[in-house]
Amino acid sequence: MTAYLPNPRADRGLAYGDGERQVLSLAAGDRACAEIESWPGYAPTPLVRLVGLAGELGLAALLVKDEGARFGVGSFKALGGAYAVRRLLAQKEPAAEVVVTCATDGNHGRAVAWAARTFGCRAIIYLHERVSRAREEAIAAYGALIMRSGGNYDDSVRRCAEDAARNGWRVVSDTAWPGYEDIPRDVMQGYTVMVREATAEMRATERPTHVLAQGGVGGLAAAVLSHFWESLGAERPFFIVVEPDKADCLYRSAEAGERVAVGGELDTVMAGLACGEPSTLAWRILERGADCFVSIADDWALKAMRRLAEPAGGDARIVAGESGGAGLAGLLAILSEPALARRAGLGSRSRVLVFNTEGATDPGLYDSIVGSSSSSRRRT
Ligand SMILES: Cc1ncc(COP(=O)(O)O)c(C=O)c1O
Repeated sequence: MTAYLPNPRADRGLAYGDGERQVLSLAAGDRACAEIESWPGYAPTPLVRLVGLAGELGLAALLVKDEGARFGVGSFKALGGAYAVRRLLAQKEPAAEVVVTCATDGNHGRAVAWAARTFGCRAIIYLHERVSRAREEAIAAYGALIMRSGGNYDDSVRRCAEDAARNGWRVVSDTAWPGYEDIPRDVMQGYTVMVREATAEMRATERPTHVLAQGGVGGLAAAVLSHFWESLGAERPFFIVVEPDKADCLYRSAEAGERVAVGGELDTVMAGLACGEPSTLAWRILERGADCFVSIADDWALKAMRRLAEPAGGDARIVAGESGGAGLAGLLAILSEPALARRAGLGSRSRVLVFNTEGATDPGLYDSIVGSSSSSRRRT
């Protein structure tokens, strides 16, 4: 059963103000774009129009921004973690003496390790016990030192911060907490490049009426929302945050009217979204700007991966990891219940934008979910 919560604090008339602009802004986004576009290997990722699937779902259009091939790192995280590392190294010389560190479910650590290799510093990456071997190997391949910690993602964030404070390493976290916000701000600002590429490529008639973004700590969703909110104000698309029901800290925070944590194992198949505590920075954007929050069962993520792997009616095939397809998973979950679709205003005139935030970042798991017929055609 999908849980659907219209944001009780949403205020579509509220202008994007100084408070929000201190977190993310179009002006800082210009700088992030200029920097990231100058990196070797930069290319915009594809904006895929799924005409067949939109028809099947009874929508006017369905656009997928496919981040699977971003810088060869496998996910949109290459924009954020790497941008933060680059900015940090610009202030500290020489790079070879800097050690960057972070805790990760896989993708952020891979991005930080890639950036350390690309820009010439060292990386130490913390993985909690549920992070798969395949994801560990992808990080280690960039020469990063791996530290395994017990517990869940949030425990590994704390352990990383403690060790860094003792050793003088620089924490490059994708989540913010009280007193630690500068670097995660850069991480989130880097993500906005993806939205700018998508909107630049859209025809005026394709402008989305709805956007669904998946939430871990909320950084990705806040980055996407901030761009639309600052540039379109009250005319922005209806914005839906999608989370796994086993790690729905943003949904719970919206319900509680304040930032709250969810504990426990967080054992969702959507590994990148297995976060129990919202980022302070992300929450500042989402708490008033998001229109609604949905909390979905793991099954929907698997369905979304398969729909993208075995496309309908002439659509292009998209390789989506378990967290990558979660925005589409939320859409499928809402559309499966006519009452929810009505509440979200989704119907035959809707143009929907979702983000495939990762490719097959755990290839064995991907193959086991979509089936071997798809594995020979995998392309990440
Ligand atoms: C593939 C993927 N999608 C989405 C997210 C969610 O991003 P955030 O934690 O900023 O909400 C993550 C986070 O790791 C991820 O790996």
